[in-house]
Amino acid sequence: MPLVDIASILDGEHDGEEVTIRGWMYNHRSSGGIQFLMVRDGSGVIQCTLPRDRVPEETYKRVEKLPLESVVELKGVVKVDERAPNGRELSITEVVNLWEAQPGYPITRKRHGVDFLLDHRHLYIRDPKMQAILRIRSKVLEAARDWLREHGYTETHSPSFITAACEGGSTLFSVDYFGRKDVYLTQSWQLYAEALIYTLGKIYTIAPSFRAEKSRTRRHLAEYWHLEVEEPWTDLWGIMKVGDELVTHICHRVAEEMSRELKSLGRDPKELLRLEPPYPRITYDEALEILRKDGIELEWGDDFGWREEEPLTRHFDTPFWVTHFPIGVKAFYHKPDPKRPEVTLSADMLAPEGYGEIIGGGQRIDDYEELLTRIVEEGLNPEDYSWYLDLRKWGSVPHSGFGLGVERLIMWICHLDHIRDAIPFPRDVRRVFP
Ligand code: 4AD
Ligand code: MG
Repeated sequence: MPLVDIASILDGEHDGEEVTIRGWMYNHRSSGGIQFLMVRDGSGVIQCTLPRDRVPEETYKRVEKLPLESVVELKGVVKVDERAPNGRELSITEVVNLWEAQPGYPITRKRHGVDFLLDHRHLYIRDPKMQAILRIRSKVLEAARDWLREHGYTETHSPSFITAACEGGSTLFSVDYFGRKDVYLTQSWQLYAEALIYTLGKIYTIAPSFRAEKSRTRRHLAEYWHLEVEEPWTDLWGIMKVGDELVTHICHRVAEEMSRELKSLGRDPKELLRLEPPYPRITYDEALEILRKDGIELEWGDDFGWREEEPLTRHFDTPFWVTHFPIGVKAFYHKPDPKRPEVTLSADMLAPEGYGEIIGGGQRIDDYEELLTRIVEEGLNPEDYSWYLDLRKWGSVPHSGFGLGVERLIMWICHLDHIRDAIPFPRDVRRVFP
């Protein structure tokens, strides 16, 4: 009677066999002479049935009174049953062990408000929906690391305490750093990555980034996980190709290995499997034209807001790129297009279906004078960027990179309404608890 994972049962590896499972009872009902227990372990959820005559009356009654989130060890026979929530159920033959929880588990089957569930996030992460998302999250990162390793990228890290802003001052979090007040939490590893390529070549990181986003939106976290890539000898088109292949690989892996979880969230894995690189590319100017035809006017030189991004994503059914943003809407380090210096060699990848930006990146300025000019033009202090400027003095080559918002990608893959469910303990303008 082996102790098995619930996932292996749902995958059909034990049909007709007697097995033992161990897990948490997240739901419970009885009807007539039979009890239905929904049991969850780290791998999935299964319905277990317990007919009254199967076990001693005393055991039956104990199980009947078992509070939610009690821990159970059950022996039973795996039955294929289309009526069961996941197509298979465990017909209990023996209640091996019980560890009773306290009564009054706060999350019940009735509908709870968003704030109640966020206050009880430490418990709500046990919900099967959250379990499915968090398992997919793990697969997304695993697939990304695999692809990057197979393609010769070295993983490396940059500090979280920084002094020079990468993405503008408005979203910087200040910290009291041993009494110093000019220290912030990082928005991106990029400036350090541009130093690290000269010792490691093609590199990536997966790490938290911080943005003091005061607006409450469905797409912004104050702390999010950032998958960033940087590489020498690569131009804008080269880095978009990396983004295309990386995102496609992640989507295919998740579709192949997480189909049960995806379906439970309302995402058909086939929609991810059919993705093929390269994704469509339009310029900022073409995006403005598409929007104009939709009756949405944006003045040339203004940045996209959600009012522009959302309708644009309705024109595509795969991720797509918007390139060549005006110089004024992108950070100082973006390389102006030599053929048309009022635009930059920049690219954002947008997810379709109303999801919007998941990647931001492009080609960096590699010339010392050009970089110094842009820093001054943007009103930044060159002294703050002295080490970054140094990189253009010794061995500078064309280089490019991007940052992918891990939760943004998961939100789209899992078809979520809100970014907060793509991370176990979300941080936003209103919440740092629990
Ligand atoms: O477009 P962003 O600001 O670009 C950078 O930070 C570059 N330095 C990255 C690079 O080239 N290495 O951010 C990159 C991505 C966005 O496309 C978005 O997916 C995500 O980070 N992102 C956020 N995700 C969640 N909450 C927020 N507040 C986010 N801000 C950006
Ligand atoms: Mg961006």
